[in-house]
Amino acid sequence: MDKPELSVAEEAARAGGAVVSRYFRDGIAMRDKAVANLVSDADVEAERAVVEVIRRTYPHHEILGEESHQGDTGAEHLWVVDPLDGTNNFAHKIPQFAVSVAYYHKGVPQCGVVYHPIRDDWHTAVRGHGAYLNGERVRVGTETRLGDVLVGVGFYYDRGAIMDATLAAVGDLKRHHHIHGIRRFGAATLDLCMVALGQLGAYFEFELSPWDFAAGRLFVEEAGGRVTDCRGEPLPLAKSSVLASNGILHDVMLDVVRPHFPAGA
Ligand code: IPD
Ligand code: CA
Ligand code: CA
Repeated sequence: MDKPELSVAEEAARAGGAVVSRYFRDGIAMRDKAVANLVSDADVEAERAVVEVIRRTYPHHEILGEESHQGDTGAEHLWVVDPLDGTNNFAHKIPQFAVSVAYYHKGVPQCGVVYHPIRDDWHTAVRGHGAYLNGERVRVGTETRLGDVLVGVGFYYDRGAIMDATLAAVGDLKRHHHIHGIRRFGAATLDLCMVALGQLGAYFEFELSPWDFAAGRLFVEEAGGRVTDCRGEPLPLAKSSVLASNGILHDVMLDVVRPHFPAGA
């Protein structure tokens, strides 16, 4: 659909995608940000490229970007950017990463793009107008039983309580719900897209940042799915747990993850 912010989001994601795919091809200069939290020059340069495109059209809008933009999340016009989601995959030469750009008006997502630059896959959504993969409308799956689906999971860079809790929830899914399988692909933006595409019946992660889910959550919702935090509450524009599903499986997934959700997380 013809929404000006979507065109800008696409152009911005294309610019970011050009940077990250160039780094991916040419070799990667890595440096550590924190334990196991790798960040490359590609992140920083890609964010710069994304932001430059947004600012050209919307110089006064706020920008919240993972690397170097602490935009005010209470602003009327807010762009939320993950210039490279799936950094660990990227660093290990696994082509499962994306550029994510979302536009929020008064705290409500209006449009979002998750761009997989290696596959040249465009996941786009505009509020009220559906979710599209490369221009084709997509919808979540229609499975009614956890026993019929794959469930995606993610771990933050945590090695403690959150990781243990995630593994316990995975154990319950396998033992008590006999799900087809667990998948951990390593790029939250794309995990969300996979729920929207009907590839995963559900996906959860106990701690994510807003740039990890800002665009993907709209993509799931516009594909007919449901996204909440792991207690069933609406997602804030802040660090949060995330549960996405085809909608039908949401409550049963909440019953599995909620008891494991670490207190204080
Ligand atoms: C990470 C990825 C990963 C998820 C982490 C995120 P990054 O983002 O989305 O799949 O498990 O929680 O932080 O650091 O690659 O942008
Ligand atoms: Ca991310
Ligand atoms: Ca990132």
